[in-house]
Amino acid sequence: MSAKIVVVFNQKGGCAKTMTTMQLAGTWGRMGLRVFVVDMDPQNTAKLWELQASSDQPFSADVESFAPLKKHFVDKLEPLLEKFDVILIDCPPSAESDVPWTALLIADYAIIPVIPVMDNVWASKIAEELVLKARAERSAADGPLQAAYLLSMNRKGKVFDVCLEALKKDIQLPILKSRIGMRNAYPECQLYGCTVGDFAESTASKEVEMAATEIGKQIGLKFTKQKGSKHE
Ligand SMILES: Nc1ncnc2c1ncn2[C@@H]1O[C@H](COP(=O)(O)OP(=O)(O)O)[C@@H](O)[C@H]1O
Ligand SMILES: [Mg+2]
Repeated sequence: MSAKIVVVFNQKGGCAKTMTTMQLAGTWGRMGLRVFVVDMDPQNTAKLWELQASSDQPFSADVESFAPLKKHFVDKLEPLLEKFDVILIDCPPSAESDVPWTALLIADYAIIPVIPVMDNVWASKIAEELVLKARAERSAADGPLQAAYLLSMNRKGKVFDVCLEALKKDIQLPILKSRIGMRNAYPECQLYGCTVGDFAESTASKEVEMAATEIGKQIGLKFTKQKGSKHE
């Protein structure tokens, strides 16, 4: 079966695109899937993250930077489609880049990470417009482009509740039930080249597994393991 393509994008920088990509990639990897991450950020954050892992406990997904290829990264995907179950594309932040647009034309699923604060709410409208434009551009042979927002760096507080309500009023695309909280465990993963599920079970590992399962079900990913860390 051909790999499912998942693009993680939002024109806004710092909204957790790379965090979302890497946590989902490693989690799906531990759930028994063959996962490939395309790092399209010229800063190579995803690739550098993977390189932090020790050789006896490698990151649970393959990560490569195709960023220098810009929109031509798609030419590299063909041979990967049969080798992997899922390919995640971590997009660069810039609105001027044509990488998100190119990815949206070929993807099965678009995840838009969004922090419940107003600057993210305003920017999400631009991201959503790009998804709707891509849907209109695609032919029936391309299959459907599913898309959803993923609340990231979520915190308790009235300001976040108010901003979430503003987001809901503003958008057409659905918001995933799973939410990713603001937690130290997330940046800690960059130090060790892992995901939150590689540490002891925690609120973070449970919320990431929930997101991986929720999105996985929507695109028909078949998990062979429920969960389990690389330390098992
Ligand atoms: N859930 C989270 N909890 C705490 N810190 C986070 C969380 N998600 C992301 N971060 C941190 O926020 C910053 C921006 O996240 P990143 O994934 O790099 O954003 P983007 O790829 O959209 O630019 C990074 O320093 C990252 O470590
Ligand atoms: Mg990034």
